[in-house]
Amino acid sequence: MKKLVVSTGAGISAESGISTFRDAGGLWENYPVMDVASHDGYVRNPALVHRFYNERRKALMNVEPNAAHLLLHDLESEGWEVYVITQNVDNLHERAGSTHVTHLHGELMKVRATDNEHLVWELRPEALETTPETLIEGHHVRPHIVFFQEAVPMFEPATEIAGEADVFVIIGTSLVVYPAAALLQYVRRGVPVYYIDPNPAAVPAGVTVIRATATEGMRELYKILTGKDTPR
Ligand code: APR
Repeated sequence: MKKLVVSTGAGISAESGISTFRDAGGLWENYPVMDVASHDGYVRNPALVHRFYNERRKALMNVEPNAAHLLLHDLESEGWEVYVITQNVDNLHERAGSTHVTHLHGELMKVRATDNEHLVWELRPEALETTPETLIEGHHVRPHIVFFQEAVPMFEPATEIAGEADVFVIIGTSLVVYPAAALLQYVRRGVPVYYIDPNPAAVPAGVTVIRATATEGMRELYKILTGKDTPR
């Protein structure tokens, strides 16, 4: 089977109703990023950080995967092994049926023990809210999110996956946050690279830019990769 490796950012979830970070009206326009998404911010005011992620969890319960997420899964029935490497902390790729998903920046629906990073729990929809006082099995918990100023432990496994791509696709990211933005450097020379984004960042020559939304761009890419009209 041919291996399709897809690097996604907030843009792939935009059409599901989840706002991006840096577009007009984006999350970072409404929240001071270093207060709610950095290590120092968490140490300074954990209650504020818990509230921020509680709000995003509740919003996630009310949205669905869109055609872009679903078409990535559809490709698995057309002879492609699809590996998703996402900067997103939502679970829309999994809910669309993707099974090989690497989250570089953590997962919104998970929390981990503050005294043991290997103890991770999935929050149930009926018990989404956490506070600095929340205890699970006697442990205080924090969002299972990679805050700014923290290491990105999944980046190294992600570079190995990118290095095995037969086709590499970037969808809906401004390519400003590292190390995620550097994944492209680990793709073998000669491997076709596509970048789907309505307002694409500068990319090296040789990358095929599809200036479109994630759903429009994925419909175009589906035809390129399968020779068939898309099922959605
Ligand atoms: N379809 C596809 N792409 C879209 C759409 C859409 N409908 N709408 C917007 N975009 C694109 C924008 O043009 C932009 O390139 O999505 C990208 C969103 O960029 P950012 O908001 O910077 O999101 P992202 O690149 O994922 O941010 C990376 O920054 O704050 C951190 O941890 C956070 O994971 C996040 C990281």
